[in-house]
Amino acid sequence: MELVLKGFGEVVKTVTFRVRRYDPEKKEMPKYMEYKVPVQRGMTVLDGVLYIKEHLDPSLAARYSCRMGICGSCAMIINGKERLACQTQILELNKDLIKVDPLGNYDTVKDLVPDLNKLFKNHESVKPYIVREEAEPYGEYIQLPEEREKYALFTECIMCGACLSACPTMATDDLYLGPQALAQAYRYIADSRDAGFNERLNLLDSKHGVWRCHFAGACSEVCPKGVDPALAIQLLRGVLSKNVFIKYKQNPAKLGPERASIKEVL
Ligand code: SF4
Ligand code: FES
Repeated sequence: MELVLKGFGEVVKTVTFRVRRYDPEKKEMPKYMEYKVPVQRGMTVLDGVLYIKEHLDPSLAARYSCRMGICGSCAMIINGKERLACQTQILELNKDLIKVDPLGNYDTVKDLVPDLNKLFKNHESVKPYIVREEAEPYGEYIQLPEEREKYALFTECIMCGACLSACPTMATDDLYLGPQALAQAYRYIADSRDAGFNERLNLLDSKHGVWRCHFAGACSEVCPKGVDPALAIQLLRGVLSKNVFIKYKQNPAKLGPERASIKEVL
């Protein structure tokens, strides 16, 4: 009798999952293994991976949590494209072969689990929080809806890491800040309550920062939340360019490391 998952519809067909297997501790080359998975209506690729773990090969490693497209843990490359496995219906892929790889441009912890330390480290480096001049908050910081609109799109990031995986610049420059961190830098710089522009400037205005992007746009194409990091990077470039221009107008003879404050720029 065919093993099926509870809570799903009838079995519609059987597909082959071709999964990249790699365990750095075993010092073996990565290899692909194939598994036959009966597909029930409603099954996602994550359900397929869990079916394999439960019924065919418990040694397969994958990361997931919410199973509803919120936590970002289950991002992987499915049939050549970065996607959230829990949001990808197997039947909608309309293929008999589902190729599953871990995210690219990261080391692999095991099998489908990427090491996201680079993503978190870069994110942290841009100070992804509101920086204030005063040491202690003095109460509520009022913001108009139209001020929030300037960065609202970029608050949707769930840190899945898919954009770094798709980014061709990331593939050639391991020190590049990457689309996720740059989008979050813009999110805070564009926030009317923030005063941290100068603190972030040197990092952003560096050879591994905002100018490194080649504008391939792959980040925005794969982002499961429609965050559009490529747009954020262009907006950030605009802010940095205006900043230099203002500084130049103030003192054409000397364009020193000190830059105009963001309040002059926006
Ligand atoms: S910008 Fe999009 S793709 Fe990149 S980490 Fe955030 S949600 Fe994921
Ligand atoms: S498991 Fe949380 S987004 Fe897929």
